[in-house]
Amino acid sequence: MKEEFQQKLETIKPIKWDDGKVVIIDQTALPEDLIYESYTDYKELIDAIKKLKVRGAPAIGIAGAYALVLALNQMPDFNLDEILKIADEIISARPTAVNLSWAVSNIYSLIKKNSKKSFKFIKNEVALKTAINIHNDDIEMCKKIGVNGNALIKNGMKILTHCNAGILATGGMGTALSVIYTAFDSDKNIKVFADETRPLLQGSRLTAWELNYMGVDTTVICDNMAAWTMKTKQIGCIIVGADRIAANGDTANKIGTYGLSILAKEFDIPFYVAAPSSTLDLKLSSGNSIIIEERGSEEIIKIGNKIIAPENINTFTPAFDVTPAENINAIITEKKVHFFPFKDFEE
Ligand code: MRU
Repeated sequence: MKEEFQQKLETIKPIKWDDGKVVIIDQTALPEDLIYESYTDYKELIDAIKKLKVRGAPAIGIAGAYALVLALNQMPDFNLDEILKIADEIISARPTAVNLSWAVSNIYSLIKKNSKKSFKFIKNEVALKTAINIHNDDIEMCKKIGVNGNALIKNGMKILTHCNAGILATGGMGTALSVIYTAFDSDKNIKVFADETRPLLQGSRLTAWELNYMGVDTTVICDNMAAWTMKTKQIGCIIVGADRIAANGDTANKIGTYGLSILAKEFDIPFYVAAPSSTLDLKLSSGNSIIIEERGSEEIIKIGNKIIAPENINTFTPAFDVTPAENINAIITEKKVHFFPFKDFEE
């Protein structure tokens, strides 16, 4: 990785453990303001996860892990039943991204296994160490996803992405955007089209902000411009992240991803998903049983404080959709590029 790129990368840290505190970038304030917030109360951190101050599947996994550590620090005495209740409370903050339940359940199981040890040992050597490992592993997985995915990117390619699967969404350099950053850092001349991603605009607010900061040529489009952009701008591939991937490759990701996959088929454009293996949920045989989070109607009725629809109107507010495996050409993980029909996830 080039030094200038590495230096810039180090300046964006959406989540940090800082001596008993969790420090996050409040992503709801971007791109206007870069605000850091510090948490010692696990309930407040859960609230930040619900409000999408910290968001993106891997980042909420890390945040959930640290939230459990904060809860242990707030607890007067060791109480396994209470820890289980808190773990469930954290997991239910956002139901679709499997990374959250994966990270929190991992730590809970280790706490249970070590429940005869001292509370101090459980807090520091079990929970905190595991949370930090989850965070560090994510940084490494992001790098490897970038390297593996870069093999699919040609010099001169125009790439369309949706939502934000970048530095802001992970512990490291992103998933879908890690592929883009790795191609950029290896001197491929690439251009990115970022869907704005209604309703909460993670594409225009976050993806455009971080790609622009890192120096990648980026164009923002409204979601309803995707088909025309594919038709007229020679899009070479589409890369998105994932919140949960079933054993057959069906992939839950930000609402709008499914539609893009249908357009990609129409225009014969390769459609790629990039995600760490912590996003695979191999217990699920297909995407049919993935729980889709529904959000408050105000996210549709308002943009910021501006009301853009009658306040009493009915709304339908799914935050994610499921793209069927057959619409996905490849799923890029830290291990390898898995091609449809995705028979090699467990290798
Ligand atoms: O609601 P969000 O902003 O948490 O949704 C994020 C996404 O859908 C991302 O594409 C996904 O979590 C992958 S992030 C590497």
